[in-house]
Amino acid sequence: MSRRFVLTVAQRAEIARGRFVRVGPAFGGFLVGRVRGTLRAYVNECRHRAVPLDLGVSSPTSDDGRHLLCHQHGALYRPEDGQCIAGPCAGEGLVAVPVVENGHTVEIG
Ligand code: FES
Repeated sequence: MSRRFVLTVAQRAEIARGRFVRVGPAFGGFLVGRVRGTLRAYVNECRHRAVPLDLGVSSPTSDDGRHLLCHQHGALYRPEDGQCIAGPCAGEGLVAVPVVENGHTVEIG
């Protein structure tokens, strides 16, 4: 069953800047962003420990905008495929989920 989320103006602006945003609750939510024109979504759960990358309050994107960042212990994930490239999650990857954009909403799952 898919879930639909309305993106706020701030979320759309962040995605337009190439950054990821969380949609839905901190626990059980998703990370959504655009990579080279393609919208991507991942389950918002680090592969090191089952916590949200953004810890419910931070941006899930690293300061330099190049990776998804887990704020708990600093794991870095590639935005294009969710693969962990540094930190205690090495060799693992975020769980990708299908995402479709429809105007100001995204449908996930
Ligand atoms: S919980 Fe994410 S790096 Fe440890």
